[in-house]
Amino acid sequence: METQRLVFKRHSTNEIILGNDIVKETVSRLLRFRVARHCAVITNETIARWYLPPLASELRSRGFSVHEIIVPDGEKFKTFDTALDIIKSLSSSGIDRDCPLIGLGGGVVCDLAGYVASIYKRGLPLVLVPTSLLAMVDASIGGKNGVNLEQGKNLAGTFYQPLLTAIDVAVLRTLPLNQLSYGLVEALKHGAIADSAYFRFIYKHMSEIKSKQLPLMQRLIRRSIHIKKSFVASDELDNNLRNHLNFGHTFGHALEGAGNFIRLHHGEAVGLGMLMAIKAATSGGILEEDYSEALRAILTEFNLPTKIPAELDKKEILNNLAQDKKKSQTGYQFILPVSLGKTMIHKVEAEKIEDFFSSAMNI
Ligand SMILES: NC(=O)c1ccc[n+]([C@@H]2O[C@H](COP(=O)([O-])OP(=O)(O)OC[C@H]3O[C@@H](n4cnc5c(N)ncnc54)[C@H](O)[C@@H]3O)[C@@H](O)[C@H]2O)c1
Ligand SMILES: [Zn+2]
Repeated sequence: METQRLVFKRHSTNEIILGNDIVKETVSRLLRFRVARHCAVITNETIARWYLPPLASELRSRGFSVHEIIVPDGEKFKTFDTALDIIKSLSSSGIDRDCPLIGLGGGVVCDLAGYVASIYKRGLPLVLVPTSLLAMVDASIGGKNGVNLEQGKNLAGTFYQPLLTAIDVAVLRTLPLNQLSYGLVEALKHGAIADSAYFRFIYKHMSEIKSKQLPLMQRLIRRSIHIKKSFVASDELDNNLRNHLNFGHTFGHALEGAGNFIRLHHGEAVGLGMLMAIKAATSGGILEEDYSEALRAILTEFNLPTKIPAELDKKEILNNLAQDKKKSQTGYQFILPVSLGKTMIHKVEAEKIEDFFSSAMNI
């Protein structure tokens, strides 16, 4: 078991614990904070089957009364409606401002729990227990949350730091391989933007990762958290430095949208987006050491695509890029690699975007 602390200037510290089989320790840590002994656990129906009983019984055995809220499984339930249902349920069970709210699940549950915790009674003590690799290395760290609207993903949300994030690698045993792969894409991104040795570590240990060797997974998650923390701690409200965490995402979002968010999963799209960014950077003479072959090998090993699906409409991808929220008054901003482990913000003028884009598409 290990502990990390993420201290923010605003008013909060997120304590992060990471280990194998740490349910007891999670509750012990929670008891160290001054919280009421009535708590709520939000999870989904898939996770509830495996992981709600041990957590709820440990909480009860340590004196908590536990209100369980089980939402349906899936991104399509990350909505205001679900958040409202949760809020009503919290209210009817008498959850008060000092009662902890525990989110137990993947990124969807973490985002819902974070959002609700930030607005219900103007803020409850939040605990996140991420269960997917993506939530462990990304969604549960950094304090962002949100729900989707018909008009777009994550359009409503807040910044709200958890009191405690408890990452138990033991739960990875039940995580399906495709979900492991989607989380690994964000870990690869961390290596690509900040740590070449970490990227190589993933390359070297593909088979141990695939078989979810837990000590190795713990090392991987530790490294990713460290990197995400370093970007987030110095830019809590996402003004500048955090942009690097969008490596592969500007292209990726454009691809995801062109496939109506069905053809490509976010993780698949970001893997392709990183290949596109590398291509754009090598074509533009920004990146000398082209590491796309190594990235391609990892993506292939994890059953992720390395070619843009032919049925995606190029025009639509370009339109999506044009609408990207990172577009500033002066043109478009892309995060491009300058070397393995380092990225830069690259501006492209509006009139040059088509050429730039054509070079990137050629992966
Ligand atoms: N707030 C942030 O900073 C941030 C960052 C990245 C992503 N996100 C959000 O996270 C969401 C994606 O998260 P996700 O990829 O974890 O998806 P998810 O929460 O839908 O989980 C994926 C699937 O895996 C299942 N699952 C999770 N853990 C499991 C386990 N241990 N065993 C078996 N099955 C398990 C889930 O029930 C679900 O079916 C998106 O909504 C995205 O917007 C948020
Ligand atoms: Zn992502």
